[in-house]
Amino acid sequence: MAAPQILRHRTPDDLAHAVAARLVTRLVDVQTTGRVPSLVLTGGSIAVTIHEAVAGSPAAGAVDWKSVDVWFGDERFVPAADPDRNVGQAAQAMLDHLPFDPARIHAVPPSDGDYGDDVDAAAEAYADDLRRAAGGGTTPAFDVLMLGIGPDGHCASLFPGRSEMYDERPVVAVRDSPKPPPTRVTLTMEPLKRAHEVWWVAAGEEKAQAVHDALTAADVQQVPAAGPSGTERTLWFLDDAAASKL
Ligand code: 6PG
Repeated sequence: MAAPQILRHRTPDDLAHAVAARLVTRLVDVQTTGRVPSLVLTGGSIAVTIHEAVAGSPAAGAVDWKSVDVWFGDERFVPAADPDRNVGQAAQAMLDHLPFDPARIHAVPPSDGDYGDDVDAAAEAYADDLRRAAGGGTTPAFDVLMLGIGPDGHCASLFPGRSEMYDERPVVAVRDSPKPPPTRVTLTMEPLKRAHEVWWVAAGEEKAQAVHDALTAADVQQVPAAGPSGTERTLWFLDDAAASKL
């Protein structure tokens, strides 16, 4: 497994534009081989900035967006129209501004959807969607898996000291999440280790210690972000503030 590459940027905007440029190139490269690339988006504030940069990229036209599969590393289990929904935030910033195929945007069911407030059923439905796309396994080997990181070292909705990350299932419900909203659906650790490329995205001083710990920690139980890495490449897109303890 290749060593993680640290990519420092002066500002969050510089970081977002660098991710956008690299994402367009990566998606075009995969499509050139004749495959439909699979992209996993993350929630969080820097993700919104990144999504806006992708939508505004002058090179965006090089990607056949209708042939990109979009997944989510985690989702807040709230009603479809709730502004906390990761898919809703991604739609507002990017998905609604580029010609994605709605059938290839794989959202976790909302809490007012087909499964009502049964978060376990919503998680199982998302797992079924992933399994159908996996070609034999439980989840696809994602081409690009983007992950944010919390100040506590969480990633997706896998939080320190919690059992979800070691659940045998690829997708689980999270209740009483330390980060609001309290109920979520998340990929577990194994699927997060199956991606060809993992792209970490973090900005701000408040992430500096968690970034340091993720890149140096042995104990994934205490620093979940120390777990996921790409089978081919792991990139850390950081602004100078988030990289300040490296
Ligand atoms: C979520 C995220 C979560 C997020 C980090 C960083 O749904 O909340 O997936 O893992 O990426 O908490 O979020 P910020 O970039 O807003 O700090």
